[in-house]
Amino acid sequence: MNIVKVNNLSKEFNGFRAVDNISFEIKKGEIFGLLGPNGAGKTTTIRILTGILKPTSGCAEINNFDIQKNPLEAKQLMGIVPETTEAYLDLSAYKNLLFIGELYGLNKKDRVERASDLLKLFELEESMNKKVKFFSKGMRQRLVLAMALMNDSKIIFLDEPTSGLDVKSARLIKSLIKKLNSEGKTILLTTHNIDEANQLCDNVAIMNYGKIVAINTPEKLKDTIQSVSSVEVSFEKFVDPKNIKFDGVSKVDKEGDKLKFYTRQQEQVIFSLVDYSKSSKNKIVSLNTLKPTLEDVFVKLTESKESNV
Ligand SMILES: Nc1ncnc2c1ncn2[C@@H]1O[C@H](COP(=O)(O)OP(=O)(O)OP(=O)(O)O)[C@@H](O)[C@H]1O
Ligand SMILES: [Mg+2]
Repeated sequence: MNIVKVNNLSKEFNGFRAVDNISFEIKKGEIFGLLGPNGAGKTTTIRILTGILKPTSGCAEINNFDIQKNPLEAKQLMGIVPETTEAYLDLSAYKNLLFIGELYGLNKKDRVERASDLLKLFELEESMNKKVKFFSKGMRQRLVLAMALMNDSKIIFLDEPTSGLDVKSARLIKSLIKKLNSEGKTILLTTHNIDEANQLCDNVAIMNYGKIVAINTPEKLKDTIQSVSSVEVSFEKFVDPKNIKFDGVSKVDKEGDKLKFYTRQQEQVIFSLVDYSKSSKNKIVSLNTLKPTLEDVFVKLTESKESNV
């Protein structure tokens, strides 16, 4: 079942198209990533989906509720972590959570219970009575994620959840995202961190200049640019790449003491290399097969304005 449906959504700011006719769907229970460079339109998309901005055209549904026509019903299902922290700096972490609980209409007992559970889950118990203005960036990020969960939301929107965090804090946030997802929550996150998209997301939409240029699972996205698959080899004695001609190789690069053969047929190239090694009596010192990374896909799809799949 699709919990999010986005149809031909566009947003213009004074004639500038920040989001340009995008469509996508998110299945219940998946982690969906919007991946794109600065200014691609990720935050604008999240703002439209969460009812903060009105689209110029197109529509979005959350669990079949149109965000423009039934905003209350749609928003009831959401937990939102905005790009900029929105906790009250002069309140403690605990009071921030209680306050949000009140906004969501939870009774006192539920508010207290939920806040305590979340403080524990997010490792903020020790600092729960400290004012947020004394929190580090990582602590604030954990707190806003906890705030988004005060409402027992079905879908969580996270705008750059780990940006600016150190490795340890980012890892904690990522493991929390996975945990929430394993408990059945659907998650839409934006990121420009390719590793993060690769590690977390079931599906990724790559955005560039307001458009979605590709949408698929991380592995299938990598498959779409198989031309960057390669075989990397080093021989005991120097080999001039000009002296090697194999079928199915589009390019040979010399990288340090290694030669890199770009090919879609890695296995074939390995056989050819072994034959070459035998006939020229030149031993193979190392041999690796390299597949494209999500970064290769990203670079390929976002390097030009006209890029398309
Ligand atoms: N309120 C606004 N008024 C005018 N232009 C805007 C407004 N909000 C966003 N934009 C423009 O729309 C484009 C997309 O911005 P957006 O914040 O959605 O990008 P993003 O993908 O989230 O980027 P980042 O990775 O830097 O967060 C940018 O060119 C931005 O300058
Ligand atoms: Mg943004």
